[in-house]
Amino acid sequence: MTSPQTGPAAVICGLGAVLPHRAVPNEELCAELDTTDEWIRTRTGIRERRIADAGVSTEDLAVAAATQALESSGTNDVHAVVLATTTPDHLMPATAPSVAARLGLTGVAAFDVAAVCTGFVYALAAAAGLITTQTARTVLVVGADRMSQLPAADDRTTRPLFADGAGAVVLRSGTATEPGALGPMVLGSDGAHRDLLIVPHGGHMKMQGPNLFRHAVDRMSAVTRQAVQLAGWRLADVDRIVPHQANARITAAVGRHLTIDADRRVQNIEYVGNTGAASIPLALAQASAGGTLRPGHRVCLTAFGAGLTWGATTVTWPDLKPAAHPHHDTAMERT
Ligand code: COA
Repeated sequence: MTSPQTGPAAVICGLGAVLPHRAVPNEELCAELDTTDEWIRTRTGIRERRIADAGVSTEDLAVAAATQALESSGTNDVHAVVLATTTPDHLMPATAPSVAARLGLTGVAAFDVAAVCTGFVYALAAAAGLITTQTARTVLVVGADRMSQLPAADDRTTRPLFADGAGAVVLRSGTATEPGALGPMVLGSDGAHRDLLIVPHGGHMKMQGPNLFRHAVDRMSAVTRQAVQLAGWRLADVDRIVPHQANARITAAVGRHLTIDADRRVQNIEYVGNTGAASIPLALAQASAGGTLRPGHRVCLTAFGAGLTWGATTVTWPDLKPAAHPHHDTAMERT
């Protein structure tokens, strides 16, 4: 799918993210699972992850990240809320309308997007579509997940990986040539491989790790190439790739395939784990706050997830204001 080069384009004008306060280091998992800190670190790149307290909902995480993004954008004049999540608070209704209502956006369009770890890129595409068809001038896009609730308590292959968090961007109507404008979107899926990572109704997550690993590397490499090419760039032009954080070894393998070395790869999995749909906006917020992502950088966002699903897009990084106030909440903090 490509976005039109004439007419309005979707432009990033705000960014925010939050993490639950509670950090769970590998050592803490070793007390409950037959695993070691060394195994988790060397096989996944993860040292610790943030886990939400029992009373914290996906809606709470989404509202906190969205508040930061709205502050950063300097506007509350939002016409739609798109929430990417795998862990909605209810089977029905969707969580996005509750998020919108909590933010005082009653009456606006609001819906969830379910594409697991590719959810944020799919949500960006849906939001960009709302803008380019002039359905909405400004759209809040949130990725929020409590992935830690999906694995079985005794599953050593999945529990170390999955964690909680939320990130958000505000998109406004603008022009395709300005900084922050989202480039062409590439999205895909292959449901024939749904059993590689699945949570059956009423059950726990089942994962075929090594097979999923291979698909993740192949799909993220291919979709990154496609998005970069559609943007009219070469891989050598890309200053930063911001991949979904599933496993540091997956990111490294994608980097090897594309000849994108470590200092051009944004990575924050070490202290956050795999936060599902929150992963890319969290990485953007942390990299932007930490100075590894700077205005003018040519960036490719690339994701892969259960489904299987995959997606990528490009953006020349804009000069965004950080949110003025840190998030004051006992359960979570601004990243
Ligand atoms: N601690 C210690 N040993 C572990 C372990 C753990 N936490 N988890 C698995 N093992 C064991 C396995 O039981 C296996 O033992 P065996 O050789 O005796 O059978 C051995 O380690 C190797 O397991 P394997 O699954 O082949 O390891 P791996 O190198 O592929 O790493 C993953 C496992 C899950 C980290 C890796 O496959 C992965 O990251 N896959 C993709 C996951 C993913 O991307 N998920 C989300 C998609 S968005």
